[in-house]
Amino acid sequence: MKVKSIGFRNFRNLNESVVSTDAKVIVVEGRNGVGKTSFLECVYSSLLLSSFRTSRLSDAIRHDAPYCQMRCSVNKNGSQYEVFAYCDRDRKTIKVNDESITGYGKLFSLFSAAVMSYDDKKIISSGPEERRRYVNQLSCFIDAGLADAIRSYSAILRERNKAVKEKRADVLDALDEKIASIGFRIVDERRKLIPFLEEYVNGICRNVFSIPGKLGIELKSNCDVVDAMEYDRLLKYSRPKDDVLACTSIGPHRDDLIFRYEGRLVRDEFSTGQIRLLSIMLKLALIDMISDMAGYSPIVLVDDVLLELDEEKKHLVFQYLLKYRQVFYTFLPQESFYRDYCDDMLVYEIKDGRIGGDENGR
Ligand SMILES: Nc1ncnc2c1ncn2[C@@H]1O[C@H](COP(=O)(O)OP(=O)(O)OP(=O)(O)O)[C@@H](O)[C@H]1O
Ligand SMILES: [Mg+2]
Repeated sequence: MKVKSIGFRNFRNLNESVVSTDAKVIVVEGRNGVGKTSFLECVYSSLLLSSFRTSRLSDAIRHDAPYCQMRCSVNKNGSQYEVFAYCDRDRKTIKVNDESITGYGKLFSLFSAAVMSYDDKKIISSGPEERRRYVNQLSCFIDAGLADAIRSYSAILRERNKAVKEKRADVLDALDEKIASIGFRIVDERRKLIPFLEEYVNGICRNVFSIPGKLGIELKSNCDVVDAMEYDRLLKYSRPKDDVLACTSIGPHRDDLIFRYEGRLVRDEFSTGQIRLLSIMLKLALIDMISDMAGYSPIVLVDDVLLELDEEKKHLVFQYLLKYRQVFYTFLPQESFYRDYCDDMLVYEIKDGRIGGDENGR
């Protein structure tokens, strides 16, 4: 898919503007703090009504404004979509071709955007919630209905944790039944996805970066059940433990991914640069899987990712990403290696929130 233009008002520090993005590669250049990431976030939230930086889109409303709004024109598989997204401090709405869209499942089935950011190395080096977030992104874009399931799961889990804390045994049976049916769907989807993910990452390892050897990705789950009924039984069996811990100890909210290279734990053995590279490969695999399984290429937003790579890898990643329909990049002003790669490119310069200087590629 391709975003052909984007307009925005009151979005972070960006000045109100309409920007043409009708090209394969869109570059936004500028010094630190001028609004490059804000621009990428604006593109993302205009499609998916959420932020990739924070859990609340309302954080993106310009400090002195009551709301923000974004408009974009999208082309996907030959169809045209006009999207209007609005967010104030109490509510957020999105319309596609004048029709209000409710529920993230519907939105994720329409559009997908993958973000590659500096923080991606946390997928490997930080705690398990970063890895669950990564797996959730992957599953939501591949099976749009899962976006709603994951949200429902979190809501019911909060309810169950409260009931466990308050020792409300009377409501636990009903909650367990609900949690078991939604939770099983999440567990089952993850189990199916991980072997594919492993295959995709190893393909990129070998074919793009010429790295030999095998990277193993293992799903660590304490909920290895065959169906929702077994899940329900496991929940009941775990109640005494839950009682002691005052929370729900079983379920996909406790899942983790373990990465091994040639059998050795990546987290303990890899250098910072190797961890950065693996995090990039995980994101490339995610984008490839979404493209293959959803049947269209997602918008790719690349924020400060190439900075830390050596020249050769920088070129390899840039070149690889050219296979997607549209990629947005942020670069510092002095970066220029990309300019000869692609004619279908727009380069913008941002200064203090003002977007200008479309050089039309050169
Ligand atoms: N809600 C908001 N309202 C107004 N300004 C904001 C808001 N949120 C963030 N900002 C400001 O927007 C500016 C641009 O931030 P952004 O992260 O886009 O910069 P950047 O160009 O990506 O910088 P860097 O090169 O350091 O990554 C920052 O100075 C930040 O303080
Ligand atoms: Mg930035």
